[in-house]
Amino acid sequence: MNKVSVELGDRRYPIYIGDKLLAQNDLLVSLLNGRQVMVVTNTTVGPLYLDKIVTQLKDFDTLVIELEDGEQYKTLDTVNSIFGSLLEHRFSRNSTLIALGGGVVGDITGFAAACYQRGIHFVQIPTTLLAQVDSSVGGKTGVNHPLGKNMIGAFYQPQGVIADTSVLTTLPGREVNAGVAEIIKYGLIYDPGFFEWLEVNLGSLKRYDEQALNHAIQRSCEIKAEIVSADEKEAGLRAILNFGHTFGHAIEAGCGYGRYLHGEAVSIGMCLASELSYRLGLISLQDVTRCIHLLKRCGLPVTIPEQLSTDDYLRLMAVDKKNMNGEIRVIVLNSIGRACLPQPIDPALLGKTIDEYAACRAS
Ligand SMILES: NC(=O)c1ccc[n+]([C@@H]2O[C@H](COP(=O)([O-])OP(=O)(O)OC[C@H]3O[C@@H](n4cnc5c(N)ncnc54)[C@H](O)[C@@H]3O)[C@@H](O)[C@H]2O)c1
Repeated sequence: MNKVSVELGDRRYPIYIGDKLLAQNDLLVSLLNGRQVMVVTNTTVGPLYLDKIVTQLKDFDTLVIELEDGEQYKTLDTVNSIFGSLLEHRFSRNSTLIALGGGVVGDITGFAAACYQRGIHFVQIPTTLLAQVDSSVGGKTGVNHPLGKNMIGAFYQPQGVIADTSVLTTLPGREVNAGVAEIIKYGLIYDPGFFEWLEVNLGSLKRYDEQALNHAIQRSCEIKAEIVSADEKEAGLRAILNFGHTFGHAIEAGCGYGRYLHGEAVSIGMCLASELSYRLGLISLQDVTRCIHLLKRCGLPVTIPEQLSTDDYLRLMAVDKKNMNGEIRVIVLNSIGRACLPQPIDPALLGKTIDEYAACRAS
């Protein structure tokens, strides 16, 4: 078992990573507070892994909530239903919520824990690769509003994260790839050596080789933990975690949520952000090709959707949270392994980058 620590003073917490961690009784119990525990999961993950959790909680007053599966249930209504159960069963401030599932379950549960009686303990047991390397780490919790994704939320850190790599064997391949996109992002923004490691070891990772999987998850969590420790509330450095996301969000929103998985849209977004970095004179054409090639080898999309025009991108990118004073700001690369803080980008250059990338780069 590997352990990464998120260093946030008296709110520091461990991320445990390894095979079959859900079978290790003492691990989960060591993170609980009080006798009352609610496990929040969904109708897909519950039947697969809930038993493993509940058997560890024999000595606790345990309640289980199984949510419907899907991003469309990441709403205040769902959070309110969790509050209802907690109140009905008289959960006190001295209780713990456990999130068992992917990023959707984690974000909902974390937000419920942040709000219930002004904050109770919670533990993340992420069951998708994306949740293990990204959403369960760093304390962003929240739900969607009809007028915007992730618009209602709180920064709220868990007591700990248990990332059991054996649960990934039941995850659909497309979901695995979406997680690998975020892993590649960490190499691109923060660690050239890790990017090179991924170029060499992608095959092993995709074959679920235990050592490769553990290393990729651990290094991703270390990088995210380091960035979050330096800038918990995204006043500066943390913004680089959004590399590829400004284009990616435009693609998700413009094509309709559901056509692309988040990691797939981010994959195309990272290609466009690399192309933009090249056009700004920051990285070489060879670097752009390395980025596209690695994502393509992983089975991730790298071509931009035909249905979106350049004007669509500019319109959609204009509503990004990183923008300031009416300027579109994008994270670009200084080199492979080093991202710059968000830069204001001339819309004419953005348009040219999108047009020319579509015409010549990704075929
Ligand atoms: N909080 C953050 O910092 C942060 C970061 C990135 C993304 N997010 C959020 O995370 C969400 C996306 O998370 P996700 O990609 O994990 O999607 P998800 O939670 O929807 O999970 C994807 C699918 O896989 C299923 N699943 C989960 N674990 C499984 C397993 N082991 N075996 C079989 N099926 C399994 C789920 O039921 C679901 O159908 C979005 O809502 C996004 O906004 C949050």
